[in-house]
Amino acid sequence: MASGQLSREEALACSGCRHACHVMLYADTTSKLFGRTPIRHIVLMQMRFDGLLGFPGGLVNPAEESLEAGLSRELLEELGLEIPITEEDYVETCYAPALSWTAKSKLILHFYVKKMEEEQIKEVERAAASTAVDHGLEVMGMVRVPLFRTNHDGGLSFFLSHSFIGNARSQLINSLLRLHLISPQNLAKALRKSLGMHA
Ligand code: GTP
Ligand code: MN
Ligand code: MN
Ligand code: MN
Ligand code: MN
Ligand code: MN
Repeated sequence: MASGQLSREEALACSGCRHACHVMLYADTTSKLFGRTPIRHIVLMQMRFDGLLGFPGGLVNPAEESLEAGLSRELLEELGLEIPITEEDYVETCYAPALSWTAKSKLILHFYVKKMEEEQIKEVERAAASTAVDHGLEVMGMVRVPLFRTNHDGGLSFFLSHSFIGNARSQLINSLLRLHLISPQNLAKALRKSLGMHA
């Protein structure tokens, strides 16, 4: 399963490293935009306090908690709900991009994906905006990723042209492909268009 730069075991063996765990929560849906464009999948990301898009989750201290327990704790803080995360939800581990490495210690990023029911995702959205202690502080709000293409090539292309924390943008793209939430052709179109926006 793991296809990142280092295995979970190698990562945990690093004594001076810091660790962070984030998760992509998603669900299938039959709802349609404007009654005609199938939305197909609900994929949750968040607008962070720093104005960047990222996944819910955060720093975990493996000396005090397992990666999964730490991630669940972060989800309770950021989403206001207990969402059990297990090793079955684990996808891969990589180093944080060089820019975010501090002089102190390397940051290692663990990524998870969890499929939920549409009703559970809606409950997450309600809790994140009401009971989550980090709402309006670390987290400005949850957002759904538009996976479709609108007139004038909008939708996913515009979404991907925003700024993302760390490698959250590649985590999103890789997950959409791996889980078949979008076709490679439609993803390629959206990527081409999103790059053009910065040209
Ligand atoms: P504090 O409680 O303020 O420490 O925040 P936090 O524990 O919620 O940590 P945060 O979610 O900001 O994640 C810690 C670090 O991981 C960030 O500074 C980023 O460098 C990185 N990071 C945050 N979100 C993501 C993400 O979605 N994907 C990846 N790959 N890295 C992320
Ligand atoms: Mn947090
Ligand atoms: Mn966080
Ligand atoms: Mn934290
Ligand atoms: Mn915090
Ligand atoms: Mn599908």
